[in-house]
Amino acid sequence: MPKLAAVTGWPLTYTRSPILHSYWCERYRIKGLYLRLPLAPENFERGVRALQALGFAGLNVTIPHKETAFALVDQRGLSAQRAGSVNTLIFEADGQIRGECTDGVGYVDSLREAGVELPRKTLVLGAGGASRAVCASLLDAGCSLTLANRTRTRADNLIAALGGGAVTDWQSWSERLGEFDLLVNTTSLGMAGQDGYDWVGSLTHADPELVVSDIVYMPLETPLLAAARAHGLIGVDGLGMLIHQARPGFKAWFGTYPDADPVLRARVVETLD
Ligand code: ATR
Repeated sequence: MPKLAAVTGWPLTYTRSPILHSYWCERYRIKGLYLRLPLAPENFERGVRALQALGFAGLNVTIPHKETAFALVDQRGLSAQRAGSVNTLIFEADGQIRGECTDGVGYVDSLREAGVELPRKTLVLGAGGASRAVCASLLDAGCSLTLANRTRTRADNLIAALGGGAVTDWQSWSERLGEFDLLVNTTSLGMAGQDGYDWVGSLTHADPELVVSDIVYMPLETPLLAAARAHGLIGVDGLGMLIHQARPGFKAWFGTYPDADPVLRARVVETLD
C-alpha cells in the first residue's frame, strides 16, 4: 500500500504541488501517491476527516482553507501559531491532527538558496495571510521589519499580532526604500502580469544592494521583478518559496527531507506558460 497525501483547496485550479511531490517520490524511490483533491468550504472538515480515516498521512491545505485548518487541528506547531494559519496537516498515529505552516520557512529558505544572506533590513508590502507567515519567519531570522499595506489598519493589526516591527504608509513607502536592503512583495498585485502599478518609479530610491523579491510565481517575472531587472537590482522570484514550503510536508508524510534541485524547478517552470 503506497503512502498517501494530497493537496486540498477550492477551486484548486492552479496547484503545482502534485508535480513537486510526485517528482520527489520518483527521485527517492518512495512508494507514495500525492493527489489533487478539491474540497468546497462546506465539505472541508468532513473531507479532511474522511481522508484521515482512509489512511492518508496528511494534506497540504491552500486557499481558502488555511485559517479553517488552523481552527480544526488538535495541535499547532510553532510555525502555525506564528502564522495564524496552517498549510500542512499531519495525521498522527494516535489520531490527532497536527498543523504546521511552512510558508514562512519556505520563503526564508528560498532566499538562502538564492544566496541572500540574512538578517536584512526588510520592507514588506502587503498584510494578508501570506504576509503574516513571511513576516514571522523574517523576524525569527533576525530581520528588522517594516510593513506597508494599502489598508493601513491591516498592517497595524499584523504588527501587533507579530509583536515586532513597524508600519509605514502605503503611499510613501518608495520614498523610504533607501533605508532597506530587502523588499518583499506579498500583495496580489502582479498576479495577472500587468498590474498598472508604477514599480519602475517606485524603485528609484533603491540602494544598489537592494534585493527585490516577489512571492507571486505566476508569472515568474512579475512587473516588480521586471522593474528590479531594469534597475539592475537582484531579484528573487516566488518559485523557490513554492518548492521550499513543500519540503517539510514531504518529510513528515514520506520520511525523506527532499532537495529543491534545479531539475524540479525546471519541471515546474515548464508548466507556467
Ligand atoms: P493572501 O492571504 O494571499 O496574502 P489577501 O489576504 O487577500 O491574500 O491579501 C492580499 C494583499 O494584497 C493585501 O495586503 C491587499 O491589500 P489590502 O489589505 O489593502 O486589501 C493587497 N492588495 C491586493 N490588491 C491590491 C492593490 N490593487 N493595491 C495594493 N494592494 C493590494
